[in-house]
Amino acid sequence: MTAGSPPTTDAAELRVGDRTLSLPVVRGTEGDDALDISRLRAESGLITLDPGFGNTGAATSAITFLDGEAGVLRYRGYPIEQLAEHSTFLEVAYLLVYGDLPTQEQLNSFVTEVTHHTLIREEMRNFFDSFPTDAHPMAVLASGVVGMSTFYPDSQNIFDADAVEVTINRLIAKVPTLAAWSFKKAVGQPYVYPRNDLGYAPNLLHMMFAVPSEDYEVDPAVAEALDLLLILHADHEQNASTSTVRLVGSTHANLYASISAGISALWGPLHGGANEAVINTLEQIVADGGNLQKWVDKAKDPNDSFRLAGFGHRVYKNFDPRATIIKRAADRVLAATGADDDLFEVAQRLEEVALNDEYFVGRKLYPNVDFYSGLIYRAIGFPKNMYTNCFAIGRLPGWIAQWKEMMSSPETKIGRPRQVYVGTGSRDYVAIEQR
Ligand code: SDX
Repeated sequence: MTAGSPPTTDAAELRVGDRTLSLPVVRGTEGDDALDISRLRAESGLITLDPGFGNTGAATSAITFLDGEAGVLRYRGYPIEQLAEHSTFLEVAYLLVYGDLPTQEQLNSFVTEVTHHTLIREEMRNFFDSFPTDAHPMAVLASGVVGMSTFYPDSQNIFDADAVEVTINRLIAKVPTLAAWSFKKAVGQPYVYPRNDLGYAPNLLHMMFAVPSEDYEVDPAVAEALDLLLILHADHEQNASTSTVRLVGSTHANLYASISAGISALWGPLHGGANEAVINTLEQIVADGGNLQKWVDKAKDPNDSFRLAGFGHRVYKNFDPRATIIKRAADRVLAATGADDDLFEVAQRLEEVALNDEYFVGRKLYPNVDFYSGLIYRAIGFPKNMYTNCFAIGRLPGWIAQWKEMMSSPETKIGRPRQVYVGTGSRDYVAIEQR
């Protein structure tokens, strides 16, 4: 079954005044079923109101399934635990975008295409020079991605399948280069060009950490950990940044513009920016003397805006399965890099304190994907402000897959929510002398 054509079965009844409306029920293959309210306003004069969309499905989708109560996450039906153990990021990217695990020939062709699109246009070197050295890499990445569209006029045609395929390959190939060069600009080091003899994660490490004055050897254990992190971040159904990509794409803006909007949405500390916020919080706790209970109490205080970054999730009311995998990987990376990260021990103790506190247990606030991922990026050597860039590189194939599904779905229309107006009634203009 493909998105956009789920079966509707028995209906629900809604009584409005003296009328009873019949609302079709849309059944998923798993998880939530939905009331189809597409006729609600026409038949009742009413709309629904659901700030944050916690009870609202924006689309039917066949890409990612997650069960927040059970802590289940699957990409195209494959459990995240199995993909984390057996797959590679580019294979997962192919799975998400094209719907099935590739044959060896399909994978080889995809990897070759991506590998041979990793260079960005040479003119873009000037683009980086136009930013201050302390520019946040997410600002540079979002601008760079939408800026790339100016070099590829063919990419504007979002209805040409061949042009879309080239754009997909260019985005997956060039975003790591843009991310790495935004870092090199920030540290005043020469840009390092991608190499076609390196795999995807090794190439990113090479562009980030190599310098022309000496050889740089990619540590296989570090490259493996980075590839795993990219797999774990690859998609997550209708989260804020994916919903942004879908909404911008529904206006028929080009794919670069939609992805750039998604990068901007991901930047927020309530979303992908949480991985950077977690490390800031752990460093604050250590600098403040390590009193974990004090900070947990701060997070619980309704009058204090401090929230424990990396904890809680709109959908997961159980452990985020990605956090469980990342926590195990953090152990391996710390051992491989020899990084003696006192923050990892603080994070583990903080998790223990929070998970024994009724406030967190009662609200089902568990560590999410961002709680431990920053510790791995830190052990690898990424600076804090690059963590969300790494999240964006991982999430890119998911955004692309969701955009592609939205564009091909018969149910898609331009996204345009309504509102409940609570402002003042009509009133006449008052000349400034009378105000
Ligand atoms: C990601 O959607 C996705 O799938 C996102 C993501 C993906 O892969 O795309 O999984 C990636 O964004 C993970 C989340 C990263 N963000 C954080 O770690 C920031 C800290 N977390 C919170 O801000 C919060 O948990 C959210 C934003 C993640 C979810 O917020 P919700 O669903 O709107 O829940 P809520 O804010 O209504 O919280 C419910 C209650 C509130 O208390 P009460 O009003 O009931 O008294 O729990 C409290 C909140 O104050 N709460 C927290 C908390 N998270 C929620 N209290 C302290 N610390 C926290 N971290």
